[in-house]
Amino acid sequence: MLVLGIQGSPRKKGNTAHLLSIFMKAAAEMGAETITINPYDYKISPCLEYTACEKTGTCPIKDDVETLIYPLMRRATIIVTGSPAFFYSAPSQLKALIDRTQPLWSRKYRLNLDDPIRPFRKGFFLGLGATKGKRLFEGFDLMMRYFYDAAGASYEGMLGYREIEKPGDMAKHPTAENDVRTEAERLIRQYMTRLRLVFLCRDNSFLGPAAAAFTMKEAGCVYDAESFGINPSEKVHSGLVPLMAEKGIDLGFVNPAGIEKFHGDINSAMKIFIGSNESEADGFKYDVFWKTPDYKDQDVNLDAILDLISEKVSGLNK
Ligand SMILES: Cc1cc2nc3c(=O)[nH]c(=O)nc-3n(C[C@H](O)[C@H](O)[C@H](O)COP(=O)(O)O)c2cc1C
Repeated sequence: MLVLGIQGSPRKKGNTAHLLSIFMKAAAEMGAETITINPYDYKISPCLEYTACEKTGTCPIKDDVETLIYPLMRRATIIVTGSPAFFYSAPSQLKALIDRTQPLWSRKYRLNLDDPIRPFRKGFFLGLGATKGKRLFEGFDLMMRYFYDAAGASYEGMLGYREIEKPGDMAKHPTAENDVRTEAERLIRQYMTRLRLVFLCRDNSFLGPAAAAFTMKEAGCVYDAESFGINPSEKVHSGLVPLMAEKGIDLGFVNPAGIEKFHGDINSAMKIFIGSNESEADGFKYDVFWKTPDYKDQDVNLDAILDLISEKVSGLNK
């Protein structure tokens, strides 16, 4: 399970970075995979309001958002955003990223596509600022509510710290460490008891992502399902996203991961190998084999393969 931290300050070793690191450290200690991104490290154009995303579900601006950031947001079960107050709002690079989540909003609310992790994904906010202002976090609270709705997460609340100005101020705060750890435990612990299910396949471009998505949609409170390839492709198969969309499942921005990306102890996971032939596993150990027609055959019915996988996933719970 991925916990994604978004560190919104341009100061990489500032107060926000410190506050967020408490959450991320607690998440890692509970066994979650953790990734922290600094929007200032990425090419993020501001939204130019082309509104094309409302029809296509993708952004015409080609920068790091679609290739690097959406895939992380889509893979994450917990997203925690940290930000300093800059004129009662977020620093511009973080705000640019927030505005660019409009395509994710469009996929859900205009195209009626359901991201299979959405029912489980949770968002939290960690804020701070220099002043004592009573209303310092009111704008953030609203912004985060709508940002997380677009990102496909339920907004679980925030912690805000006042009178934090110079680097090092946050680290001296008497209760922050305990407050943040308590919230991290509350959000993450419940998910760490799920059974880890690994769908292994040859290139992870069709069978694996579909199986993981069906599992999360049907039984994401019981399983934490992910897919990995023995020899991962660069991109998913061109038929996967449109065919799954016909079933109402959104696999936009999914990238095929290789087995080396598995986080944790692979022996603790149940491993299902999916493919047309067991030899495709290349000696890799697994617990169960699901045989499917070869989806790369010219005349194969891809939709029928997806239905077969869906049926097998339903059988997991029987
Ligand atoms: C451009 C700018 C605008 C700021 N605006 C506010 C503000 O509106 N309210 C506030 O309380 N602090 C404001 N601050 C102070 C920062 O929020 C504060 O110094 C914070 O600790 C910086 O966090 P960091 O170390 O993570 O960057 C502002 C700072 C800058 C540089």
